[in-house]
Amino acid sequence: MRVAILISGAGSNMAALVRSMTGDHPARPVLVLSDVDGAPGLGLARSLGVEARAVAGPRGAREAAMAAALAQARADLICLAGFMRVLSPGFVAAHPRTINIHPSLLPRHRGLDTHARALAAGDARHGCTVHRVTAELDAGEVLGQSALEVGPQDTAETLAARVRALEHRLYPAVVRRLADAFPSAPPAHREGG
Ligand code: GRF
Repeated sequence: MRVAILISGAGSNMAALVRSMTGDHPARPVLVLSDVDGAPGLGLARSLGVEARAVAGPRGAREAAMAAALAQARADLICLAGFMRVLSPGFVAAHPRTINIHPSLLPRHRGLDTHARALAAGDARHGCTVHRVTAELDAGEVLGQSALEVGPQDTAETLAARVRALEHRLYPAVVRRLADAFPSAPPAHREGG
């Protein structure tokens, strides 16, 4: 299975995924794309031996460039890893095998600032979710979750660091599961059409 990873920033989840796909792993990272020119994750990807490039411009042009690059790389699975753009319904429909990692226990805390919101809500548990990407933000089928207990000393910063450590184990585990099932698994279903 050929895996493409889309990033916007540091790329620590991208690096965890890339490092996991070695040896007898049935998947290989084939391409890293970033909507941010000069995102630190692009250099990190190259240092890990993966082709990486920026796709800039307004959404229409950017998504067209992304679609062309993904087709050329013959990506079977697209992993969003800190990719901070909402994909258009058309792009999502054309790429049904797309998954994302989100720093909350979905369906709680869709969107941004999840750690501060979990604290403000008094959540006893917090964590991260890998889910299928649909046209609705952070709403596709949940493929895996990892949780921690929120402590009295936790701040948004400590939660971010603690959740990040969980993400780096969860995302590779879910991708491994999908890769083991590929290509016998049925195509990803999409919610809402
Ligand atoms: C992660 O917390 C991820 O869940 C969220 O954005 C962050 C990306 O971090 N979607 P990194 O770029 O993988 O370090």
